[in-house]
Amino acid sequence: MIKNICCIGAGYVGGPTMAVIADNCPNIQVNVVDNNILRIKQWNTKDFSKLPIYEPGLGEIVKRCRGKNLHFSNDLEHNIQRADIVFISVNTPTKKYGFGAGKASNLKYVEECARQVAKFAEGHTIVVEKSTLPVRTAEAIKSILEASQNKNLSTFDVLSNPEFLAEGSAINDLINPERVLIGGDNIDSISILNEIYSQWVPKNKILNTNIWSSELAKLTANAFLAQRISSINSIGAICEATGADIREVSRAIGSDSRIGSKFLDAGPGFGGSCFKKDILNLVYLAEYYGLKEVADFWNSVVLVNNWHQQRISKLITKKLFGSLSNKKIIMLGFAFKANTNDTRESAAIGISKDLLAEGAFLHIHDPKVNPDQIANDLGIPQNEANNKEIFSEEGRWYFVKDIYEAVKGADAILVITEWEIYSKIDWLKVSKLMRKPSWVFDSRSILIPEKVKESGLNFWRIGDGS
Ligand code: UDX
Ligand code: ADP
Repeated sequence: MIKNICCIGAGYVGGPTMAVIADNCPNIQVNVVDNNILRIKQWNTKDFSKLPIYEPGLGEIVKRCRGKNLHFSNDLEHNIQRADIVFISVNTPTKKYGFGAGKASNLKYVEECARQVAKFAEGHTIVVEKSTLPVRTAEAIKSILEASQNKNLSTFDVLSNPEFLAEGSAINDLINPERVLIGGDNIDSISILNEIYSQWVPKNKILNTNIWSSELAKLTANAFLAQRISSINSIGAICEATGADIREVSRAIGSDSRIGSKFLDAGPGFGGSCFKKDILNLVYLAEYYGLKEVADFWNSVVLVNNWHQQRISKLITKKLFGSLSNKKIIMLGFAFKANTNDTRESAAIGISKDLLAEGAFLHIHDPKVNPDQIANDLGIPQNEANNKEIFSEEGRWYFVKDIYEAVKGADAILVITEWEIYSKIDWLKVSKLMRKPSWVFDSRSILIPEKVKESGLNFWRIGDGS
């Protein structure tokens, strides 16, 4: 009988996943631990709209379960000690130095967790890898755990249970998953984890595989999804050159059931903490095994994404007469997609840096991302001139709360994130406030072209060659 679960890592994966487990398994105590004191304080906030992670539906679940069978704390020792199952949900950023720099994942946090589990666990503990990890990481976790096994009589089993939730729809994805993947070689441990998920997931959606297939399936799923986005964005560029329309092309190809209609929206390029990292992991793996053509194939998905983001910055500069110096540009959205406050790998970061490098006065709006996060991502404090050694002109950025106030005297508006509020903007009102000639760039296809054009604004949208 499983009584206690401990999850190490109270982030975008650990927080929502454990909330949904707690909500569906009232007889299990779920303890989410993190070594970040501020983050845990934020999870324990009285105001449920101020949790550290914005995710629709999350606040209600935390409100229902917190203090009953869902707990957030910094006490790793005690919670690992009493856990029957430990989930590892820590971040695995791409390595910045050493072997595999720029491609392989930095596993230092995962390794640290394995060492903490090895040190504190008592009795038999099932260790579940939840973080997205390179293939064969379970082996590293196992060897750390096995090294301590003989020392303090504790025993371990390692399972891979990759997360497929997408941010912004995480709660729905967790409650109604298309599949739950559990990889491992100990049938008893697999059955225990199966049993937990079967409290709310139909049994036919719980897939059991060997541990390596499970790890590789996660990387492959993300690589395939990202590949679709690079594919559609590359065709978008052809549409713009030829007079075709990417929305029409997407609809036409997506109605072929072999292709399917999802993940065919052209945009500013994929972001998020997973896609790029997972593809680079795959590239590293292929290179490691001497599969150069395989590595090149997947690497091109990332190269197209980088090229595509720069293409947008260049296009804006060109439309604004080749220079952004002294020009006011409003960026709508900074998160990597709508309904999240996450900015990791957001297209907004690279595009902002390009526009600032051209000397733009960039006014950034986002309903959920805070200005400190933007300053951190751009590496430039708000309202400060850029380092002239890096940037040729005096670009500056400002955070704005009121869109209509911000657009006064602006030369261009750029939609980066598909937040619903942006599709409800009053373009007639905006047009009267902007400096002419003024441009609206819609990288997400969320605006109605006629409405923007009728207001006297120049309009560009992604993949529209008409
Ligand atoms: C992804 C996977 O979908 C999820 O299964 C995995 O667990 C984690 O990685 P996430 O990164 O949260 O989830 O969001 P996702 O919806 O996949 O979007 C990723 C990026 O692709 C975003 O920048 C999004 O805007 C972009 N995108 C998505 C497009 O540009 N076009 C599309 O059609 C879909
Ligand atoms: P993800 O999107 O994978 O959930 P996040 O960065 O949102 O990534 O969350 C990962 C969390 O893991 C962070 O809150 C971080 O403080 C925490 N973390 C990383 N290493 C450890 C560790 N060794 N012990 C406890 N918590 C850790």
